[in-house]
Amino acid sequence: MPVLGLGLAALGRPGYVTLNHASDLGRRYDPVIMELHAHHVLDAAFEAGIRYIDAARSYGRAEDFVASWLRTRAIEPGQVEVASKWGYTYTAGWSTSATQHEVKEHSLAAYLRQLHESIERLGPYLSLYQIHSVTAEGKTLEDDALIDAIAGLRERGIRAGLTVSGAGQDVAIRRSLEVRRDGERVFDSVQATWNLLERGAESALEDAHGAGMKIVVKESLANGRLTQANRDDDAFFSPVVARIRELAKSRGLTVETLALAAALARPWADVVLTGAATVGQIQSNVAALELAYDAELEEKLRSVSINSTEYWRARSSFRWN
Ligand SMILES: NC(=O)c1ccc[n+]([C@@H]2O[C@H](COP(=O)([O-])OP(=O)(O)OC[C@H]3O[C@@H](n4cnc5c(N)ncnc54)[C@H](OP(=O)(O)O)[C@@H]3O)[C@@H](O)[C@H]2O)c1
Repeated sequence: MPVLGLGLAALGRPGYVTLNHASDLGRRYDPVIMELHAHHVLDAAFEAGIRYIDAARSYGRAEDFVASWLRTRAIEPGQVEVASKWGYTYTAGWSTSATQHEVKEHSLAAYLRQLHESIERLGPYLSLYQIHSVTAEGKTLEDDALIDAIAGLRERGIRAGLTVSGAGQDVAIRRSLEVRRDGERVFDSVQATWNLLERGAESALEDAHGAGMKIVVKESLANGRLTQANRDDDAFFSPVVARIRELAKSRGLTVETLALAAALARPWADVVLTGAATVGQIQSNVAALELAYDAELEEKLRSVSINSTEYWRARSSFRWN
């Protein structure tokens, strides 16, 4: 069974695209208060046995919050696996209503700048460095000078990974398997979206797992859409969520527990990220670890998934709050 990891996308900055982000943070955006809040969630995660943390340069101060937490709790490098990402720059200026929250740049210059920034913050804790959101349309994996530089991470004791996004996640994953230097695959790990609504990457992830890559699942709750909280606010996802809610209810479960348990039941997954933004959400996630997900559930839930192109079109319209 895969382990749970904690992603910091909702904890490192005031704005994010989950449904109730503003209320999760109590609309308190003072950086000191946000750092304390992130530390409380990290404490709850650690207590629940979570030892995998996922940050990014673009998640506001997420790397700083993780670094201060690790140091104040006297956690040694190696006790917790800390992953981060480069490729997007945070541009929201600590606001929830910026016109642009992050800017994508997959150049060698951006990589070198952000690697320096990440190491400056996380030092020996940084164990995996990922390209943030490789897509099927992008040319990132064809940039030889960039790949040469990424291949050099191993000499620093840091593994290389990528995350993928968009309707062509499967194409990007398969392409990453072929990227080699000195006969060895450059990428040790891939992080992809898999949830009950978007299963498009499934067979590519299975193959990547078979080839020895570490598989990290993101967005297992479809950015908070696969939860009890998603009622009428969301015209595209709400009807499907209502069907899942009925099935969850028949088993005495919440939508979020069922959706997380479904991700944890993937035989090819190594880590399933929770994007929990509160201590209560972390505590509810632990219940998913106990759930015996069975073949009957799998059969009934397989039919609720939607077309990948439609899923990602809806995903791109999520409102920052
Ligand atoms: N391109 C990339 O590389 C990329 C993209 C996205 C995410 N990620 C990684 O994946 C992680 C998870 O993604 P995500 O947060 O976008 O999606 P998620 O895990 O699908 O959704 C998490 C959100 O669901 C809601 N929720 C409601 N009840 C919950 C419960 N009991 N437990 C947990 N969450 C509950 C919360 O938002 P509300 O309360 O606001 O509804 C929470 O923030 C991120 O933190 C990040 O590390 C990577």
